[in-house]
Amino acid sequence: MKIDGTPYRTIWPRPDETVEVIDQIALPHRFQTQVLRSAEECADAIKTMLVRGAPLIGATAAYGMALAMKVDPSSRAVVAAHDMLLATRPTAVNLRWALKRMSDVLARQTHGDRFSLAWVEAAKICDEDVEICRKIGEHGLKIFREIAAKKNGRLNVLTHCNAGWLACVDWGTALAPIYLAFNQGIDVHVWVDETRPRNQGASLTAYELGAHGVKHAIIADNAGGHYMQAGEVDVCIVGTDRVTRNGDVANKIGTYLKALAATDNNVPFYVALPSTTIDWTMEKGADIPIEERGTDEVLKISGRLNGDVVTVDIAAPGSPARNPGFDVTPARLVTGLITEAGVCEASEDGLRGLFA
Ligand code: MRU
Repeated sequence: MKIDGTPYRTIWPRPDETVEVIDQIALPHRFQTQVLRSAEECADAIKTMLVRGAPLIGATAAYGMALAMKVDPSSRAVVAAHDMLLATRPTAVNLRWALKRMSDVLARQTHGDRFSLAWVEAAKICDEDVEICRKIGEHGLKIFREIAAKKNGRLNVLTHCNAGWLACVDWGTALAPIYLAFNQGIDVHVWVDETRPRNQGASLTAYELGAHGVKHAIIADNAGGHYMQAGEVDVCIVGTDRVTRNGDVANKIGTYLKALAATDNNVPFYVALPSTTIDWTMEKGADIPIEERGTDEVLKISGRLNGDVVTVDIAAPGSPARNPGFDVTPARLVTGLITEAGVCEASEDGLRGLFA
């Protein structure tokens, strides 16, 4: 996607064999990039959410493994880098998937240039993610076309958190069909949930959509149900960090409440995902580890003041808080899963029908 006319991915290799990423903590106030020089810096970037979003976390971890091989290509170092990167964030299963793929490839090369092998494999993971997201976009676009046709060509979409190109390598999952719909002239408008506490909707999704020229409005997380009752939401679409075998969906905290409101109002609720987000080893959503994050994200808020980014307290001193990063939407509330292989019911049969 483009920022000010320049095409970007969220992560890319540099000629000096380091990796460059878009700094997602600085957005939307400043567009800047950061260079990651080691596996430790990749782990730190994931932990601090300089990079975030399930597919991008996986891609960054893959490059982290490659950078570890530059320093020490031993089998012990493969395991150490794998374990360090895996410990960064618990919910998005793409992280585990990417690390396993890198470890498996490296295990087949017991001597020789492990760094080059890993460097090429990490690039492949990124290229494949771009293609997967494009295909998700095409499958989602068919659904959007059908809905828009019933609404005189207009389409009001609601999304939660950021499952756009900033969460992936390019295109995005939930936002890919939106970009394709826009590119093909569908009159699309997006309700962007602000997504407290870190505000990925307000700071990242709105930024992306605005940069591409897609009409949108940021709404408080509590407003979606109201707009659904008022008939102003035609379809909801979100990304996901892990889908279990039975079709349950873990995504950013607050997704479940949107799915409940959508079901109550007969608004279709779709989840877009690459197959790398399916956890075939896990039977149901209740088993998904939910990241509990620091309470400062709830008790403070950051914003721009006279050109500077400042952080302020929003609660009385000493108020306790809790901060679960994700929740689980049961499969029964999901209208369909949109993957690179097509659209299926949120169930084991549905998933197996696409991914035998
Ligand atoms: O905590 P984050 O910002 O990494 O959470 C991201 C989300 O929940 C996304 O919606 C999800 O990863 C899907 S990304 C394509």
